[in-house]
Amino acid sequence: MAELLLPWYRRCGRHDLPWRKTQDDYALWLAEILLQQTQVRTALPYYGRLLAHFPRWQDLASAPLDAVLAQWSGLGYYARARNAHRAAQMVVRDHGGRFPKDRASAMALPGVGRSTAAAVLASAYGQDEAILDANARRVLFRTAGLVGEPRSAANDRRLWQLAAMETPRGTAHDYNQAIQDLGAIHCRSRRPDCPGCPLRPRCRAAARPELLNRYEQTHR
Ligand code: ADE
Repeated sequence: MAELLLPWYRRCGRHDLPWRKTQDDYALWLAEILLQQTQVRTALPYYGRLLAHFPRWQDLASAPLDAVLAQWSGLGYYARARNAHRAAQMVVRDHGGRFPKDRASAMALPGVGRSTAAAVLASAYGQDEAILDANARRVLFRTAGLVGEPRSAANDRRLWQLAAMETPRGTAHDYNQAIQDLGAIHCRSRRPDCPGCPLRPRCRAAARPELLNRYEQTHR
């Protein structure tokens, strides 16, 4: 997959997204937290404002919770804001003000699941970590021609295996971003655009539309 995706990403990827232009662990973590339940277009202005108000771990950690919630206002999912505030305090107190470099410590931060941990470890530190967020899950589910409930225990195991197998050594970060863009541009949840998709030659669902539609119906 990487051989098909990476050249496409270089040509067609959304390289202007602000979190694609930074190597700062705090900015990269904040982006992934915002993008967990929010579309890119909605997240963008919040991302800019949050970074302006709280530019570093220390600023977020020492801010009153009310000030953080005020900046979050309108985004929804306020548990995310509370978790982010606590996570920043843990990073400052327990990790010397850097996002932890190992997966277990990263996942011990509130609001950081396996996929978010992987995204930050790959983007901030260049680690070979596979993600499996909603976009990656949809792309892998379709290309592999899986059936059933995308979040069943069996499919979850299979999808993490596939994610690990397909993620290339050394370029995991670009590959992870490429999956995001493919999911936004071609492999959309509804009305996927298969004709222009770089993965079409090796996608099982593209050849069997009932598989595409199944995902659309069961899993928005
Ligand atoms: N959704 C989750 N992480 C993302 C990223 N890094 N870029 C675009 N969309 C995303």
